[in-house]
Amino acid sequence: MSNRPMRLRRSQLAVPGSSEKMLTKAAGLDVDHVFCDLEDAVAPSAKPAARQTIVEALNSLDWGNTVRCVRVNDVTTQWCHDDIITVVEGARENLDTIMLTKPYTAADVQFVDKLLTQLEKKLGLKKRIGLEVLIEEVQALHNVWEIAHSCDRLECLIFGMGDYAASQGMMVKNIGTTGGYPGDIFHYPRYQLTIAARSAGIDAVDGPYANFGNEDGYREECRRALTLGMVGKWAIHPSQISAATEMFSPDASEVAFAREIIEVYRKAEADGLGSVGHKGVMVDAASARLFQNTVNRADLIGM
Ligand code: COA
Ligand code: MG
Repeated sequence: MSNRPMRLRRSQLAVPGSSEKMLTKAAGLDVDHVFCDLEDAVAPSAKPAARQTIVEALNSLDWGNTVRCVRVNDVTTQWCHDDIITVVEGARENLDTIMLTKPYTAADVQFVDKLLTQLEKKLGLKKRIGLEVLIEEVQALHNVWEIAHSCDRLECLIFGMGDYAASQGMMVKNIGTTGGYPGDIFHYPRYQLTIAARSAGIDAVDGPYANFGNEDGYREECRRALTLGMVGKWAIHPSQISAATEMFSPDASEVAFAREIIEVYRKAEADGLGSVGHKGVMVDAASARLFQNTVNRADLIGM
């Protein structure tokens, strides 16, 4: 039985770790999860200073119930270990999760898991720091099953479609859009990632949509991810947060209907029946299981 904490990830806001202004703004927003970035949003020359800016923001701002995450550079860079050590030693319990970029294999994730274990012991931290990883290289998609099951600390797989598209050599014009491909060019990686995540009992989250002026396009991507079994999507701009939060929350009527179906099935079972008709539709054990997912989401949100 896993002891991973359950956290809301309907919207994960990317915030450049070098921007004190944006970090301050992020702390005041109503968003499930914020990741303070040390990777692509921060220029190489600005990375050491950004670590300190992030530590200061985590320690001094009121983040409310928002999950506080720091995204670190990948294990092949000269920055990865210093990112983790500086941020964990500086922020200690004011940090909830670390997000690892560009792993290729389970061993890359296990490196970070072990480093975090060492730091937790050294600092005597009272809570365990969670781990989230991006699937954004073709090698990672190939190894996604092993990565999903790589360690008990792992809470979440994220589909990073920008780097992924580049890694595969896809001809898409901006991050999150699907080019001229018939159907959904990201169907296969999202599907694979979500199967692996669900199998490991962890969350699957959809990555960025760069065209933050196109709310309809963004909502359509949320709808696809949600339908596949993902629990949230990144926001790269504050204007995307409310759409993701809304799209990944069941509405009250959906929750009421889910509870109704589960009740109908319970009654059928008590009457010795495996399946019954309800409002013209068959209800059986699988229906109850499907609708239990909606009830679980509602419970986590506190609906
Ligand atoms: N987090 C927190 N605040 C943000 C923000 C973010 N990701 N993006 C914008 N803001 C703030 C701006 O500072 C501005 O604040 P103000 O009204 O107090 O001045 C306000 O929201 C409106 O921003 P806007 O002027 O519309 O955008 P911009 O031109 O300042 O920034 C981006 C556009 C794309 C550069 C910016 O949204 C950004 O840096 N996004 C994150 C990029 C990132 O992290 N990429 C890596 C992961 S994919
Ligand atoms: Mg990336």
